[in-house]
Amino acid sequence: MYITRRERFASAHRLYNPNMNSQNNAQLFGKCNELHGHNYQLFVTVNGSLNKESGFVIDLKDLKKIIHTKIIDKLDHKIINDADFMKDKIASTENLCIGIWRELEAPIKKMGAMLYKIKIFETENNFVEYFGK
Ligand code: NI
Repeated sequence: MYITRRERFASAHRLYNPNMNSQNNAQLFGKCNELHGHNYQLFVTVNGSLNKESGFVIDLKDLKKIIHTKIIDKLDHKIINDADFMKDKIASTENLCIGIWRELEAPIKKMGAMLYKIKIFETENNFVEYFGK
């Protein structure tokens, strides 16, 4: 069975590749090369069997707490490029999905479930999904 927790955060980011000069960065990323913000939506989907005592796959209170500690507290009203798990990465939504996956996979496993999918809406029309591979 699959269960999903949604979280929202407002963050700034800037797309740039440190291996390229500023002119090439501006050319590649256009306006996204400048610092700007988005209202992101994060969907964390977890897979597991029902706990016989609780009837839950995972306790959503616990899942919320771990998502806040590991992710939201580091991103909301902050700059994505500065988050510890995004250091030295291009702050694209794709890389953000991978970074969040790596932060959440082990703690969710510890809670007796499996992380199944990270989905992030950067805008109303653009979203990225990551299944861990
Ligand atoms: Ni952007």
